[in-house]
Amino acid sequence: MPDQVQQTEQYGVEHLAIIMDGNGRWAKTRGRPRSFGHRAGVEAVRRTVRNAPKLGVRHLTLYAFSSENWSRPADEISDLLGLLKFYVRSDLADLAAAGVCVRIIGSREGLKPDILNLINMAESKTAHNSKLYLNIAFNYGGRDEIVRAVQKVVDDPTGVVAKGGKLTVEDITAAMDTARGPDPDLVIRTSGEKRISNFLLWQIAYAELVFVECMWPDFDMEHLTAAFEEYRSRDRRYGGVVSAEGVAL
Ligand code: IPE
Ligand code: IPE
Ligand code: MG
Repeated sequence: MPDQVQQTEQYGVEHLAIIMDGNGRWAKTRGRPRSFGHRAGVEAVRRTVRNAPKLGVRHLTLYAFSSENWSRPADEISDLLGLLKFYVRSDLADLAAAGVCVRIIGSREGLKPDILNLINMAESKTAHNSKLYLNIAFNYGGRDEIVRAVQKVVDDPTGVVAKGGKLTVEDITAAMDTARGPDPDLVIRTSGEKRISNFLLWQIAYAELVFVECMWPDFDMEHLTAAFEEYRSRDRRYGGVVSAEGVAL
């Protein structure tokens, strides 16, 4: 758990976001059903929640279930929902004790009451914590989040639109599900796929992207550190001609 570990090294990654991909292929190469891979994926989540703060991460966003994942077979969807419930129920006390503040990002529309209750419980039981801000993206789609944020701004009776003002980037950012934290510095995707799959489209405008070959259930501290080293070797220029450290290039 984050508060039981010594912080070893700083990489300047305040917000790490991860597309946890490859559970199904990991299981397939072992001749096992996809559900076996998803279960192993939960262990990788636990490792990552423990390890990321050791590298200086304060905000961790994990892509657990996309708005497009509803198109999977019904039994796989029920496995995934079951695992989410299992993870929250079994780990919530430890997460709370370790100072983790949990938030579920994504659309709540159409979710069953048992899931909604669990989400509310996870958020309220950990709301006072601040050692690690953990966002779990569930029923999440980046385009959907942008649409919901814009709608929120438009509908706000005291907001900029109601006052006849001009919409700004900051207005939308403040209405996003991730408003409590900074934009991700680094996005890691496992499984070798090189795409974003509708993840944090608004927030990753200037994030560094690292694609790693390993399947999510195998992802460990070694892979995490390697991705951070890769991040450290990058120059974040934000459209300018000097690096973020102020070095002229
Ligand atoms: C990631 O693994 C978990 C979710 C998307 C929910 P996948 O289930 O996508 O595994 P692959 O990509 O088919 O191997
Ligand atoms: C992205 O993985 C979603 C999650 C990791 C939750 P997918 O496996 O659903 O993405 P595609 O279909 O390969 O783009
Ligand atoms: Mg996949």
